[in-house]
Amino acid sequence: MARARTPAAPSNAASFPTAPTGTPAWEALAAHRDALAGTTMRALFEADPDRFQRFSLRFGDLLLDYAKNRITDETMGLLRDLAAETGVEAKRDAMFAGQAINSTEGRAVLHVALRNRSNRAILVDGADVMPEVNRVLEQMRVFSDAVRDGTWTGATGKAVTDVVNIGIGGSDLGPVMVAEGLKPYWHARIRPHFVSNVDGTHMAETLRGLNPETTLFLIASKTFTTQETLTNAHTARAWLTAALGEAAVAKHFAALSTNAEAVSAFGIDTANMFAFWDWVGGRYSLWSAIGLPIVLAIGFERFTELLDGAHAMDEHFRTAPLAENMPAILGLLGVWYGNFHGAAAHALLPYDQYLHRFAAHFQQVDMESNGKRVTLDGTPVPCDTGPVIFGEPGTNGQHSFYQLIHQGTRLIPCDFIAPAISHNPMGEHHRILLSNFFAQTEALMKGKTEDEARAELEGQGKSAEEIDALLPHKVFPGDRPTNSILVKRVDPYTLGMLVALYEHKVFVQGAVWGVNSFDQWGVELGKQLAKAILPELKGDGGVMSHDASTNGLINAYKELRNS
Ligand code: F6P
Repeated sequence: MARARTPAAPSNAASFPTAPTGTPAWEALAAHRDALAGTTMRALFEADPDRFQRFSLRFGDLLLDYAKNRITDETMGLLRDLAAETGVEAKRDAMFAGQAINSTEGRAVLHVALRNRSNRAILVDGADVMPEVNRVLEQMRVFSDAVRDGTWTGATGKAVTDVVNIGIGGSDLGPVMVAEGLKPYWHARIRPHFVSNVDGTHMAETLRGLNPETTLFLIASKTFTTQETLTNAHTARAWLTAALGEAAVAKHFAALSTNAEAVSAFGIDTANMFAFWDWVGGRYSLWSAIGLPIVLAIGFERFTELLDGAHAMDEHFRTAPLAENMPAILGLLGVWYGNFHGAAAHALLPYDQYLHRFAAHFQQVDMESNGKRVTLDGTPVPCDTGPVIFGEPGTNGQHSFYQLIHQGTRLIPCDFIAPAISHNPMGEHHRILLSNFFAQTEALMKGKTEDEARAELEGQGKSAEEIDALLPHKVFPGDRPTNSILVKRVDPYTLGMLVALYEHKVFVQGAVWGVNSFDQWGVELGKQLAKAILPELKGDGGVMSHDASTNGLINAYKELRNS
């Protein structure tokens, strides 16, 4: 629908520096960091009993507590100055207004239109996108209702029991994360599966035990050219037609894509195609037709609740002053640690097993968006940009990598996320889980001083020599920053808010750094080289066309496979 345009910077970009380091706020923040050195969070808490009130925020059933950060009112004020001097709000407004802020691809960035429940007009090239958004949503409703109530059947007349989504990156991670996050809402008969890896094992293990007669494949690809997805789609098609014949494809395959031509060429009737548009970035597409596996699992009504939650967060981000704006606060705190304290990583730690793919999804959202080294005008960014994102659900992470967060040499800010109410209230489980959440953030903030560690060892009856030997190992430096996010329960509305919160956090950081958060040229080189290497893997002849290491690896592979 949206026409291709000549790449152009948003009209208001020129009014802001493309790099943040030359702003007065940057300099002031560096001086402020130096002035704060030696002031611990512990001391800040002791000095201010109102610190929680001062540095926490509620939005609906979502509470953000950011009191356990190395901040004062002055810090937050300076960070807001930085946002103002780098044009964060103007850039945000340009996104909501449908300007082509993805300048290297000449595209608007309008995932917010996909969940624009107010239905107010959002224009791209002068045309309102909302009628098309609503048309596809209605198509998704009709189709998912039919699959769920059993009126849509496979070629042999049986109702669908298994939906296999074939996609990768943004056409996989968001839908898996949300589908898993909302498992308590799944239809009793319908199980969603997700195949992404081109490794045949992923497909083989997914298809094992599935019945072609009751399996529906969704081929999810914005471009419909992605090698992994098309390879998997062809394999799925061969599996299906071997059992049910070519004519069965129409009842067992649907496509989620922007590329109708390629969908037809693959052999999927475009009547079974759910469209979206070039202004939906892959990693921001779970709200579009790419969300169809979610809709099939939880139903259209629940999906609209997810959209409602995201829309509420969009409105908050769009209208709340920066001092009370959750995405802005999270984004700016990330800048504070990444650029002024040398933090290279950021952990996302959901204390909810259903959110076990949350960090995996935001690895792509954050690292593909802000893993950039040049600003919008193509000059090098003179500071660090996006952090390494990682995480595991609590309490698993505690028994894995928290040691480094507590006592390692690197600073790793963490976000803790938990629901107050579990979907599975069994015995003491949830209280134990949450006691760990609260304890971890307290321990990271307070640490354990030498005096405290010594008193503890003395209490255990250790000798003076033993205490001397053990003491350095028992000290926790503390002062390790955390944000805590509490929600009432992980339901569609809340998850919608949470996902939109983090999407906008990433936006804020990209806006401060002056990068284009919406392209991903960095994934291209590997793809190009793989295309060149693939034909070389066929024969048994030696390969000499690469560097010595790559040649050596390819030739060793050929030797091993034949031995
Ligand atoms: O990994 C690169 C990428 O382009 C992602 O941005 C995207 O989400 C993914 O590939 C899948 O692309 P498509 O939906 O076009 O198959």
